[in-house]
Amino acid sequence: MDTKLLFQDAAGFQTPMLAVFAVDIAVGKDAEPLVALLTTSDAVADAAAKVLASGEFKATVGETLLLHAPNGLKAERLLVVGLGKAKSLSVDEVRKGAGTAVRAAKPLGVRELAIAFPEDHALDDEHLETLPCTLLSRVLVEGAELAEMDWDTYRSERKDRSVRLLSVVAKEAEKSTRAEIQEGFDAGVIVAAAQNFTRTLVNEPGNVLTPTELGRRAAAMCAEAGLRCEVHSTAKLLELKMGAFAAVAQGSEQPPALIVMTYEPKLGKGEAAAKDAPVLGLVGKGITFDTGGISIKPGDGMEKMKYDMAGAAAMIGAMRAIAQLKPKVKVIGVVCSAENMPDGKAYRPGDVVTAMSGKTIEVINTDAEGRLVLADGLHYAKTLGCTHLIDAATLTGACVVALGIVNVGLFSNDEATWQKFVDATKISGEKFWRLPCTDDYKDQIKSHIADMRNTGANRWGGAISAAMFLKEFVGETPWVHLDIAGCAWHDENKPWIANGPSGVAVRSILEWVRGYEA
Ligand code: BES
Ligand code: ZN
Ligand code: ZN
Repeated sequence: MDTKLLFQDAAGFQTPMLAVFAVDIAVGKDAEPLVALLTTSDAVADAAAKVLASGEFKATVGETLLLHAPNGLKAERLLVVGLGKAKSLSVDEVRKGAGTAVRAAKPLGVRELAIAFPEDHALDDEHLETLPCTLLSRVLVEGAELAEMDWDTYRSERKDRSVRLLSVVAKEAEKSTRAEIQEGFDAGVIVAAAQNFTRTLVNEPGNVLTPTELGRRAAAMCAEAGLRCEVHSTAKLLELKMGAFAAVAQGSEQPPALIVMTYEPKLGKGEAAAKDAPVLGLVGKGITFDTGGISIKPGDGMEKMKYDMAGAAAMIGAMRAIAQLKPKVKVIGVVCSAENMPDGKAYRPGDVVTAMSGKTIEVINTDAEGRLVLADGLHYAKTLGCTHLIDAATLTGACVVALGIVNVGLFSNDEATWQKFVDATKISGEKFWRLPCTDDYKDQIKSHIADMRNTGANRWGGAISAAMFLKEFVGETPWVHLDIAGCAWHDENKPWIANGPSGVAVRSILEWVRGYEA
């Protein structure tokens, strides 16, 4: 989708469809909805006045109302998009609203869409005061770009329903405001493209996206974006003594891929990197298909396990945006990709493997493979000089049981690093919930014969046992662990986004990285 930002009056803008946002300004629990438009354009307000007065449109989130040939407007259609209650309005609703507008245009065959920039001063008591225009502009683009994606590339009779042009129309504003809106807009384009890149990878079936293919796609992205990229396979894993990662990979005909992507900030003339400058390590679980291995999973729903590489895809997507946004901090992306298969060569329950760190692991269940590949990935990132680590993984079903499909499980061994991540989520709008990983839980991963076991001693707190296991390989390095098992794939269609891969965590990881800029 092409995107344009224009500063002019929305009423005079020639377009097949102009979308304008509306909120419910009624207060009180049982009050009848009172709809107000987020525009100061009298012409737009007049065009919608009659139908809004009917009370049929309540301005709930995801609700739309379509008018043809609106009086007094250059647009062929006017689409009113609900953002819910004015009182609770945040940028998240604006992101959803922009998405709703795009997804409403698609079935109508409307190819070009304009969105009127939401204007806070249209409301008497300035509900939007707290929403800075840079962020508003950014989320508009993000919501629209995310909504544009449909997962129909494998259909032979595919109907092209793409929206090809999005124009964001903002009123003539002061120069400084204009610059802020433009800045948010430009960032939104980059961030959304990265998240969509991630979603495209996650959508791919296991037969197409093997570890080797994931390596190829990461390398192609890096070449285009100007990042250094190395893709290694079995020989390098053995050379590095990555016994945990190699054990998972050995049951598949498909060779593993260890992908290392490096972003180095350009220094100005005479500038030298500070000796204590942070180096951020982004480590992703890239199981391109998880059968469970010898501890094989039940058949029901196993097809979903193609998305067991969503953590890896999030890191690859984040690296893409980092290359474009160029923060002043060094970042290394490490992806551990393998296929978890049962086979004559597969690793077994009861095996003892030695991780790259030298620690020994008793394999209790071959389906707890994610923590094994990450154990070596996290340790390897440290040897590359990473001072701070973040990992993303579709790690445990237990995390889905604990938090459902709304919040990502968040774990950390360092308060300052965790706080940086929380700050990042204020911009990204993604939802995370912190769970503990204190040493009180350490008994869970005790083994009778090795340094640790790869599953919890009992079934309680499975997401925590997995985090405790990873913590063993992180050591003293400040670290954040994201268990995205419940949030990486949405089964349900929403008015603002198609069901399927979500691309969760890309935006937050990116903002976390930007938080370390020199
Ligand atoms: N890939 C799964 C976790 C998962 C579950 C991801 C649901 C997405 C949705 C992981 O490798 C796994 O199988 N974990 C086991 C661990 C258990 C054997 C300790 C699980 O959660 O059952
Ligand atoms: Zn598994
Ligand atoms: Zn898995």
